[in-house]
Amino acid sequence: MNFERLPRHVAIIMDGNGRWAKMRNLPRIEGHINGIESVRVVVETTRELNIPYLTLYAFSKENWRRPEKEVKSLFELLDTYLDRELPNMLENGIRFIAIGDIEDFPENIQKKIRHTMEKTKENTSLTLSVALSYSGRTEIIHAVKEIIKAVKDGKLESIDEESFRMYLYTKEIPDPDLLIRTSGEKRLSNFLLYQMAYTEIYITDTLWPDFRKKEYLEALLDYSRRERRFGIVKEDSSG
Ligand code: IPE
Ligand code: IPE
Ligand code: MG
Repeated sequence: MNFERLPRHVAIIMDGNGRWAKMRNLPRIEGHINGIESVRVVVETTRELNIPYLTLYAFSKENWRRPEKEVKSLFELLDTYLDRELPNMLENGIRFIAIGDIEDFPENIQKKIRHTMEKTKENTSLTLSVALSYSGRTEIIHAVKEIIKAVKDGKLESIDEESFRMYLYTKEIPDPDLLIRTSGEKRLSNFLLYQMAYTEIYITDTLWPDFRKKEYLEALLDYSRRERRFGIVKEDSSG
């Protein structure tokens, strides 16, 4: 496929695993299991296209309120995913970072997350950030608290957009150019609230476990045809 313009950073709200399972009379966890294959395909395609940043919303702060059994199965899936994918990340230059309140997780999961980050920190072809126990509002409040501390300690003089972003979990990554949300829901669900001020939004009815290469390329093609304006008008527009 020939893209006129690709995003530099794609963010995805991977939604619809539960509905995918329900349609098949399967337990919700089966939807999450099949969603992992979509994660693999999307990561691989992102790398093939040389898109340098991909951020996946895997678990929100609000998701802790789901039944304990589902939450536990999600940890286990994350644990196996990280084990299985580490060799692939190392082989393909993928750097893994977690954004969110990692300390909310059980010790063994925290360890695995830190280990994966540490092992892949020198990689440069793709930065894969995974939002885990993430809340956009919590992130902003956390930043404000850190800024207050820094000002008190005399480490920060002025607060502007440039200095503010350095206190976000995403300080090392640019703002998303494209947000994809699967399963048709038209909301942000507390994802990257500050960072998505000018992000293009693509919503598809496809459920996450069915979102594979073809569906991803369609989203990228849709993006490549858009005109981004950032609040300004082109010179020469009549009127
Ligand atoms: C997204 O699928 C995965 C997570 C939030 C962990 P859901 O589990 O939200 O699936 P639906 O929305 O119930 O179909
Ligand atoms: C958003 O999906 C969170 C993730 C995909 C991890 P949810 O299914 O939790 O969001 P709501 O409840 O539909 O807003
Ligand atoms: Mg959902």
